[in-house]
Amino acid sequence: MQTIRARLTFGYSLALLAVLLVFGTALYFELRKPSRQELDERTALDASFAVRYLEESFRVLGRVVSPPPRQELDPGVSAAFEGFQDYMIVVGEKGEVRYLSEHARELEFAALDKLSGLLRPLPEERAIGTVNVGGGHPAFRYLAEPVHGAGPEIGAVLIATPSNRTTFDPRALLRAMFVVAPVILLASVVLGIWLAGTALRPVQGIINEVEAISDGRSLHRRLAVPLSGDEISRLALTLNGMLARLEQSFAGLRRFTADASHELKTPLMVLRAGVERALTHPGTAPDSLEALDETLQQISQMSEMVENLLTLARADEGRAPLAKERCDLRELVAEAVETAGILAEPSGVMVQSLLPDGPVEIEADRHRVRELLLNLVTNAIKYTPGGGEVGVALETSPDAAVITVRDSGIGIAPGDLPHIFERFWRADPARSRTGDRPGTGLGLAITKWIAEAHGGSITVQSRPGRGTMFTVMLPRM
Ligand SMILES: Nc1ncnc2c1ncn2[C@@H]1O[C@H](COP(=O)(O)OP(=O)(O)OP(=O)(O)O)[C@@H](O)[C@H]1O
Ligand SMILES: [Mg+2]
Repeated sequence: MQTIRARLTFGYSLALLAVLLVFGTALYFELRKPSRQELDERTALDASFAVRYLEESFRVLGRVVSPPPRQELDPGVSAAFEGFQDYMIVVGEKGEVRYLSEHARELEFAALDKLSGLLRPLPEERAIGTVNVGGGHPAFRYLAEPVHGAGPEIGAVLIATPSNRTTFDPRALLRAMFVVAPVILLASVVLGIWLAGTALRPVQGIINEVEAISDGRSLHRRLAVPLSGDEISRLALTLNGMLARLEQSFAGLRRFTADASHELKTPLMVLRAGVERALTHPGTAPDSLEALDETLQQISQMSEMVENLLTLARADEGRAPLAKERCDLRELVAEAVETAGILAEPSGVMVQSLLPDGPVEIEADRHRVRELLLNLVTNAIKYTPGGGEVGVALETSPDAAVITVRDSGIGIAPGDLPHIFERFWRADPARSRTGDRPGTGLGLAITKWIAEAHGGSITVQSRPGRGTMFTVMLPRM
């Protein structure tokens, strides 16, 4: 149930199932109660028919009962009642039975006696009621009616029907429900998926748009606000408000960083010039020289950091244009390898390289690419203990140039890998050794920006204690 759509569909299919169950059960029990009114109407109809038929037959034939000794209802007349589903009894004026319908004939004596007893004495007028005949039979709903116009041999008619017999069969309902319910449920699931999908489509749209605004540089973008005025458009408006505030604070932060680093550049330059002059001044006391030297180192590091900060702040503001030109990447890598050789010498690290034979032409900002390469090789050397190896390789494919910088150094812990491209981030062990591995933690942030600004990418693989490999992909012309 990962999506709201699935949860919604599941939820209301379940609700529908519950409703169907409750509705079906209620209906079943309600309909199982025999409808007394329906029964009474039926018996009344049957009784009127019987009475009218008897009277009419008497008027036409002159008699409806066969002569003594049998004195039963004439077969010609009784044939009309043979199809009766109900229990029918016709009695003479003294209550003697003249006719029993097919069902009535099947009743055992006690029950039949109970029923025909309702006609002794003859009813004065139509009587309706319920009677229990025993013998495991359900209660009977009956109607007794006197017959006046069918001669002296006919006194009254009784129509009775078991009170559980209605035209409606609740079990049929149950069967129908079992067949229909799954179909309804299936239809509701399909409809549900479709409805939830339609309702959530605008949300999906917003998710896609927000995903596209993934970094600080796309904060100027806004979501399209639907005109519907519903929750979705309010959500879009709210998000747009939030984006505006974010954009504002991001811009403020960038401007501050850019301004601050810019303002720091001049005083640092003045400071450096002053210290350099003092260092070269013949009158400076020898014990001050050491302190001044240390100061100069710190100033250089700080200048570098300020420069890096300014670069990043400008890049964020989109004000760090690339002076792209056609250049030979092989030449740039070879240069970086040479510099690396010089840098690595004091610490006893071997630098090896693997370069293609011919030039590798790319469209790039020469200075930035040089900076990228230097950042990577200085890191490789810095984080590799003496006796280790650093390898730089350049490979090409038809549409990309791939630079790998690998070392056999201290490596990076898996938990640290996601952070190394963050600004000012340095792994703890390295940080504790600021003395021999100085740095600000901006190098890789800038490297990543340079690679991406050229339409390329940078990835890293590392194993603690075994070494690290950075792979930079730059698109070719
Ligand atoms: N080749 C490497 N081997 C091991 N750890 C590395 C390597 N390259 C980078 N790191 C880790 O990533 C961190 C960030 O590197 P980054 O280059 O951004 O900063 P830095 O080298 O510490 O400082 P600087 O800003 O001077 O480059 C480093 O502090 C280090 O912990
Ligand atoms: Mg570095």
